[in-house]
Amino acid sequence: MQFAKRVLGINPSLTLSINSRAKKLAAEGKSIINFAAGEPDFDTPDFIKKRAIESIQEGFTKYTPASGMPKLKEAICDKFKKDNNLIYQPNQIVITCGAKHALYNILQAVIDTDQEVLIPSPYWVSYPEMVTLAGAKSKFIQTSMKDSFKVTASVLKESINKNTKLLILNSPSNPTGAVYEENEIREIAKICVENHIFVISDEIYEKIIFDNRKHFSIASTNEEIYNLTFTVNGVSKSFSMTGWRIGYLAGPAEIVTKINMIQAHSTSNPCSISQMASLEALTAKSDFIERIASTFQQRRDKIISRIKKMPIISCFNPQGAFYVFADISKSKLSGLEFSNKVLDEAGLAVVPGEAFGDSRFIRMSFACGLQTIDEGMDRLEKWLRQL
Ligand SMILES: Cc1ncc(COP(=O)(O)O)c(C=O)c1O
Repeated sequence: MQFAKRVLGINPSLTLSINSRAKKLAAEGKSIINFAAGEPDFDTPDFIKKRAIESIQEGFTKYTPASGMPKLKEAICDKFKKDNNLIYQPNQIVITCGAKHALYNILQAVIDTDQEVLIPSPYWVSYPEMVTLAGAKSKFIQTSMKDSFKVTASVLKESINKNTKLLILNSPSNPTGAVYEENEIREIAKICVENHIFVISDEIYEKIIFDNRKHFSIASTNEEIYNLTFTVNGVSKSFSMTGWRIGYLAGPAEIVTKINMIQAHSTSNPCSISQMASLEALTAKSDFIERIASTFQQRRDKIISRIKKMPIISCFNPQGAFYVFADISKSKLSGLEFSNKVLDEAGLAVVPGEAFGDSRFIRMSFACGLQTIDEGMDRLEKWLRQL
């Protein structure tokens, strides 16, 4: 079969393959603890579901404008102002089918063949693949546990050349849980402005942040970086709405108009009912986000306290999101070998670090209850002690 050249460089998702192997083993009757999930385990809150049901009954089941319904754009502008100190107008917003779609559309609109996109590594699994699909090249900036998995201004500076077009920043980070401080972001912004580099700021885990840290949006630093930044967010993680597929982007109006055109000729509007549900999520009074953030912090504390007592494995204490990125290099196994072995021998599903650009690590999600965390940690500890 002859494929289009653009798909030849695309890799299969390791996250999905470990998940499907875990599901297969569970279907065969094996007891599996799943730490591979990439979504909150909480149900979508009832007040949001109720609004979706009402909107179906009211007949809100037709096309909306391709870039999303005006009322939701206004609510998103209000959210940016309230939470992020960012002033956007509705014509600077596109509502997309999940944050993933926002990232994809931006790269399609901004990046040309042979240009380079800077991606701090470890990175979220889809960034390099989206860059490849845009015909461009990923240039990885290696970070380390010692630097809290953050890119420093000096390393960023050294990574820039004449082909560099854009930097993807993700704070809080999937997979590492790193959260950039305001001063670190300001330094990065300065370098991007000096070199006229666009930034995609993926802020999807903004609300899942620990130890009273404050999320800081790079676009709020100053007008110059605001004009170079696309801020990406959505309701998937903060409102446990992964299946509803609503994300959004905000950026310079001129480019957003082009993104709007890409969307109009590809997917058109994201689901009208999900948009109505997201409007409710963003505007209704609720303490859902605060509750899940504090639950995730308790789980983070539990999983970290257990890992600290184990041989072989060590990890960075995540400052946000719901993943532990753990160094397993002392096991002398690659992330992939480790993940396959621990699944087969201990019934524990984890994601190999290869999915995120580093084979010395595994990623474990704590989007599950405390009891499940304990059971999974019991299995891991027992297995490591006999390795
Ligand atoms: C860092 C990061 N960005 C974006 C996304 C995509 O979110 P959505 O489900 O809204 O497309 C994810 C989902 O796992 C993610 O981890």
